[in-house]
Amino acid sequence: MIKPEAIRQDFPIFVHHPTLAYLDNAATTQKPESVIEGIADFYRKENANIHRGVYPLAAAATEKYEKVRHIVAEFIGASSFKSIVYSSGTTASINLVVQSFLEKRLNSGDEVLISAMEHHANLIPWQMLCKKKDARLIIIPVDKNGEIDMMAFKDRLSSRTKMLALTHISNTLGSINPIEEIIELAHQRAIPVLIDGAQSVAHYPIDVSALDCDFFVFSAHKCFGPTGVGILYGKEEHLREMEPVVFGGDMIREVSYENSSFTTYPQRFEAGTTNIAGIVGLGYAIEYLQKYNKAEILQYLTQLSEYAHQELESVDGLEIIGKAGAKSAILSFAFENIHPHDVATFLGTENIAVRAGHHCTQPLMDFFNIPGTSRASFTFYNTFEEVDRMVKVLKEMKQFLS
Ligand SMILES: Cc1ncc(COP(=O)(O)O)c(C=O)c1O
Repeated sequence: MIKPEAIRQDFPIFVHHPTLAYLDNAATTQKPESVIEGIADFYRKENANIHRGVYPLAAAATEKYEKVRHIVAEFIGASSFKSIVYSSGTTASINLVVQSFLEKRLNSGDEVLISAMEHHANLIPWQMLCKKKDARLIIIPVDKNGEIDMMAFKDRLSSRTKMLALTHISNTLGSINPIEEIIELAHQRAIPVLIDGAQSVAHYPIDVSALDCDFFVFSAHKCFGPTGVGILYGKEEHLREMEPVVFGGDMIREVSYENSSFTTYPQRFEAGTTNIAGIVGLGYAIEYLQKYNKAEILQYLTQLSEYAHQELESVDGLEIIGKAGAKSAILSFAFENIHPHDVATFLGTENIAVRAGHHCTQPLMDFFNIPGTSRASFTFYNTFEEVDRMVKVLKEMKQFLS
């Protein structure tokens, strides 16, 4: 059973901020002691650059760094550690797929399919490539509840579609997309699929082999790991064919002044010195998460989120934005005459941290015809009492401003 009070003890931020209600986990999660200490300890006791050194310290650092590929592969159900590419985050992983995988396959008149609820990170890179190649970015619409319009999706699949990129969970609406069905429909037409797992990997069981997605991307910092580290999972058949787009040390086979050849995947996509300690930290974050049963985490978050929905709906004038049938513990809300920034500022004065704005989904905000939302996003160290605190302040705010 999930005991949030006990879990909080693992996170030093709450020692330093005992009254903090941190409800901004979709932006970044807090870090457990084991991750903070693991990274510090790596620098203290194990630090050396990887791959190039033959002395024992460098060999041990390399081993530790490479072990994380196995940890990640197991965590997301990849059949081989060679499918795991290190990056600086979800954004960098998507850009790599755009430039290295799709660019050479996309021609004038082709189409790339994304949904209306994508984070800018899963929109702009495809948009830029489409402009460059005179291709078209096609948007799968969502309905007023924040659910993908499946009929419209099927209609938009065509022989011109060269790629589908879709978020597993919307960072703004919390909608959980039916990615299994969507991947299957795309594959019936041999369309490769990238799944943005930034908001799902921390709490949902992920099995990329069962999903059969072509690419799966996520950031360490949204699953209790450090910032500046991310993962690109790719099917080996794709990675094998992809050319590197960033060049430098640690990704070469042979170099002369005239020519260079490159080592094999995944290392060929990791030019230069990567965030070694951060990647080690991601390993610790996954080990931390694996102490808990994901089904229990999910059960707890479902209860917490249902409670938050119910309580928020009791606040006069508050509208919940995003009412998908399948929803994660991300809750966006808006008031007709109060700007989301004012709402977040009000909550901030009571040490309740929520995010406000467009959440890097401006076109989605345009669709809902609002400037932005306030967003509370939960994880397993959040409590029912924190929901009560948030709702109490919102009610006071509403009274104060009317
Ligand atoms: C769904 C989704 N995709 C992509 C990103 C971008 O992640 P990062 O900034 O870590 O690259 C985010 C971050 O909020 C996100 O929520």
